[in-house]
Amino acid sequence: MHIQYLEMTPASAARLSGEIVGIYAGAFAGPPYLRGEPEALAFTDSFANHRGRADFRCIVARDGSDGPLVGFIYGFASLPGQWWYDQVAHRMTTEQQARWLPFSFELAELAVLPAYQGRGIGGQLHDRLLNGLQQRTALLSTMQAETNAMALYRKRGWRLILSDFLFAGAVRLYVILGRDLPPRASRPRGRPLHARNL
Ligand SMILES: CC(C)(COP(=O)(O)OP(=O)(O)OC[C@H]1O[C@@H](n2cnc3c(N)ncnc32)[C@H](O)[C@@H]1OP(=O)(O)O)[C@@H](O)C(=O)NCCC(=O)NCCS
Repeated sequence: MHIQYLEMTPASAARLSGEIVGIYAGAFAGPPYLRGEPEALAFTDSFANHRGRADFRCIVARDGSDGPLVGFIYGFASLPGQWWYDQVAHRMTTEQQARWLPFSFELAELAVLPAYQGRGIGGQLHDRLLNGLQQRTALLSTMQAETNAMALYRKRGWRLILSDFLFAGAVRLYVILGRDLPPRASRPRGRPLHARNL
């Protein structure tokens, strides 16, 4: 197995949207998520909407040079007026808002096909997404449960900001996690990913 990591543009991510939604459906089908067709359709729409956001960044993992996509991750600049930002900001204290919100990046989604999990792909996607971002902090929400995702984030330095978080219309509780990003000056020169022409 030779996994290739490819950085998408909004246009190339749109062309691969069907495959990406397929990964989402496969990765979130099992417990504790148990997401089905309605959630996959909703994700299709939100992914389309998110591709237009400032600093949209998406990386996919492909098995071989012309094999299937097996994982993806994406995020964008987290800004006032966005559904997620506004709900999270509303629950934060003034101190938390000042600490985490200015110049932040939202890690919106991460998923690896079940057959490919546990081989380091999710970790690679995570590290490559955050490497070289211009933002000061990164934020995400994840289900409040002992998932593989929670273990991954904990190992990679994410800190708990808010727990027992109920998004509008949701029934499950989430946590909000945050991480400082390295200052821009300390980033290595150049980016390791060049495949913007898919
Ligand atoms: C979360 C997810 C993307 C991880 O992908 P992955 O390719 O299996 O992750 P990796 O193999 O790189 O493992 C990364 C870390 O996750 C944790 N992890 C992964 N699988 C694990 C398992 N079976 N048991 C315990 N920890 C596990 C470990 O902390 C691991 O650390 P390591 O890098 O030191 O080994 C994948 O499990 C997935 O798609 N889950 C369903 C969707 C999801 O939860 N997305 C995140 C929503 S916020």
